[in-house]
Amino acid sequence: MSDSGFGLLRGKKGVIFGALNKKSIAWSIAESVYREGGRFALSNAPVAKRLGSLDALAEKTGSRILWADATSDKDIENLFEEAKKSYGKIDFIVHAIGMGVNVRKRREYDRLNYDWYQKTLNISSISLHRIVHHALETGALADGASIVAISYIGAQRTFTRYSEMGDAKALLESIVRTWGSVLGRRGIRINAVSQSPTRTTAGMGIAGFDALFEFGERLSPLGNADAASCGDYTVTLLSDLTRMVTMQTLYHDGGFSSMGISEEFVEPMVKAAQKADQ
Ligand SMILES: NC(=O)c1ccc[n+]([C@@H]2O[C@H](COP(=O)([O-])OP(=O)(O)OC[C@H]3O[C@@H](n4cnc5c(N)ncnc54)[C@H](O)[C@@H]3O)[C@@H](O)[C@H]2O)c1
Repeated sequence: MSDSGFGLLRGKKGVIFGALNKKSIAWSIAESVYREGGRFALSNAPVAKRLGSLDALAEKTGSRILWADATSDKDIENLFEEAKKSYGKIDFIVHAIGMGVNVRKRREYDRLNYDWYQKTLNISSISLHRIVHHALETGALADGASIVAISYIGAQRTFTRYSEMGDAKALLESIVRTWGSVLGRRGIRINAVSQSPTRTTAGMGIAGFDALFEFGERLSPLGNADAASCGDYTVTLLSDLTRMVTMQTLYHDGGFSSMGISEEFVEPMVKAAQKADQ
């Protein structure tokens, strides 16, 4: 990867949601976007002021930080009013927000706390709807803009420990499709990037994350995609090169989603079957 980038986002301005610390997928996306000439405001929930290190990223990329709880209409509306003042109309939005409350609190799927479940959906999925809604209502979004949300293959397949987050990602991807049909009238596109397991604060909060990570690593022909490569991939979707791509879930997973079984798993299975036959 060229250190100076290719200028793919020169002149584009946007808002990137969800960078907490260096491990965050949004942090890597911000670094890639910056390298490609894009400029942006960074946003996170006010609680992240004490939990994360967003100031360092803001300083490095010359960005404003616009604190906003993604479950609050007022916060998100204010955010886009402020973004408009600083950047004019914006050309891209990155949604990299997620939190599984039952998952965090180790409540399994057969005994979910429904208040927490609703909180999970509100933070992880409905927030995308809210962000797009207020970006439109405030007039902050430019025609031809591009929106990317970060998802996981738990939306399509069951990974037992992923639990309620599978439902949240299924809703997120559905919101991507439904908004896409509305936004297309203004040439605005919206896509989900379905990312490999990645060692981040949210990722490692899932019980059994190590198993998901290891499984992905062994099954994917290219291995798991890391956050830095996700940043680079996201740049392509924010650039004009992909201007006719919308409403998609795009797998950024080293090939995981197309695999059934890999050689890594064949040998032990054959041995187990032979042993059972003896
Ligand atoms: N880590 C993985 O394995 C993995 C894989 C696929 C997809 N994803 C998705 O990537 C996205 C980014 O997560 P990450 O893995 O980088 O972890 P992360 O913990 O670094 O980022 C999650 C972010 O969500 C923010 N957030 C939580 N509640 C919020 C609220 N109410 N308002 C605003 N922001 C809020 C957090 O402060 C944090 O910055 C999430 O959507 C996650 O589900 C992660």
